Amino acid sequence: MHLAQVLFSQGFGSRRECEGLIASGFVSLAGQVCDNPWHEVDPVGLEFGVQGQRWPYHEKALVMLNKPAGYECSQKPKHHPSVMSLLPAPLRRRGLQPVGRLDEDTTGLLLLTDDGSLIHRLTSPKHHVPKLYEVQCKHEVDSKQIAALLAGVVLDDDPKPVKAAACEAAGAQGIRLTLTEGKYHQVKRMVAAVGNRVEGLHRSSFGALVLPADLAPGQWRWVDGPQALTSALPPLSSR
Ligand code: URA
Repeated sequence: MHLAQVLFSQGFGSRRECEGLIASGFVSLAGQVCDNPWHEVDPVGLEFGVQGQRWPYHEKALVMLNKPAGYECSQKPKHHPSVMSLLPAPLRRRGLQPVGRLDEDTTGLLLLTDDGSLIHRLTSPKHHVPKLYEVQCKHEVDSKQIAALLAGVVLDDDPKPVKAAACEAAGAQGIRLTLTEGKYHQVKRMVAAVGNRVEGLHRSSFGALVLPADLAPGQWRWVDGPQALTSALPPLSSR
C-alpha cells in the first residue's frame, strides 16, 4: 500500500491532502521522515508519525471513551456537545459511531467504531452482551426493589417484562445492575418502575471490557488486537 493511501484510509484528509502532508515532511516511519507519498508499506502492524504524533494503523477502528457528563452520543447533538468532539480529527473523519448510546448525564465506558457489523454484534439484544451500570438512587434501595429488577418489570413501550441479568445493592442508595439489552433510558425506566429514581448513572463495563481506572473522563484509547475485540463479545456458543 502507498503511504498516502495509508494516511487516507486512517482519516488524515483527502488523497491530495495526505500526499501533501507526506511531501511536506510531516510524516515519519520508524522515526525517519518519509516525504515520498508513493513509498510502499505493509500496513499491518504499521506505526507512523504525523506531525510528531504516533499513529498505529487500524483497518477498522475500535476505541473506548470514558464519557463525561454533559455530552450527547448523537452525531447531531441538540443541547450539548457531541462525544465525537472528544475524539481527534482523523477518528472523526473515519465516521466512527457510538456502539449504542449513553444519555447526556450518564458517564463511563462508551465504545465507538467504524465497523458496522461489530456495532450490530455488540448491540443486538439476541447476542446478550452484558453491560454493567453503577446506579446512584434518590431513595434507599431495599431488597424488594432488587428482587423486582431481577424478576422483571414492565416498561411503558412493551408489555414483555425486562429483567436485569444481575443486580445487587451497593451501599444504601446504590445498585450494580447488569443489562443485556439497550432500550431507550432502560436503567432509568427500570429503576422508576420499582419506585426509586436514578440520580447518577455510570457504565463500568461492556462485555469483557472494563473501563480502565487510568482512563480519565474525556479520554479515549484504542481497543487493540483481535483478543480484546473478541473478548468484548459473548463466547461463540451463546452468540
Ligand atoms: N440506561 C439509561 O437509562 N441511560 C443510559 O445512559 C444507559 C442505560
